[in-house]
Amino acid sequence: MSEPSRRDFIYIAAGAAAAAGGALTLWPFIDQMNPAADTLALASTEVDLSQVAEGQQITVMWRGKPVFVRHRTPAEIEEARSVDVSGLRDPATDQERLVPLSGGEYQPQFLIMVGICTHLGCVPLGNRSGDYDGWFCPCHGSHYDTAGRIRKGPAPKNLEVPGYEYLSDTVVKIG
Ligand code: FES
Repeated sequence: MSEPSRRDFIYIAAGAAAAAGGALTLWPFIDQMNPAADTLALASTEVDLSQVAEGQQITVMWRGKPVFVRHRTPAEIEEARSVDVSGLRDPATDQERLVPLSGGEYQPQFLIMVGICTHLGCVPLGNRSGDYDGWFCPCHGSHYDTAGRIRKGPAPKNLEVPGYEYLSDTVVKIG
């Protein structure tokens, strides 16, 4: 009888944790497109958005899960807004995937999402990856657009937007 390999175990563990939505303290799929310095294991869930330059993304940890904080370019925002949402698998406008400032104004340049593929829990690649210039999950080929919406591949849902609020124009509290 063959023993499950360590790799099998990691895949199973990652899938189980994603399915349960529980705390995931270890995940095997690291976003290769981001330098390690961009992965910040913050003790707090507050993020200073002024650290994220236009066109860049950082990954912070929140309840054991990676959360992508992307500072989108005007072109990325325009791409996200030009989509006819009625044809999407998981329809949502770009603005519906954002949280406004306390005064009601939106900062569409900042997109915040849980960095876990909604198919089986891998961590998608960022930096305008995939056919829709957003994120690409290499595990089974899911393509997400510049609003993190699923556009192609097996994932059933858009990348999850976590609960968050703006404490100021430049500080966000996730969770
Ligand atoms: Fe992302 Fe399967 S886990 S496509």
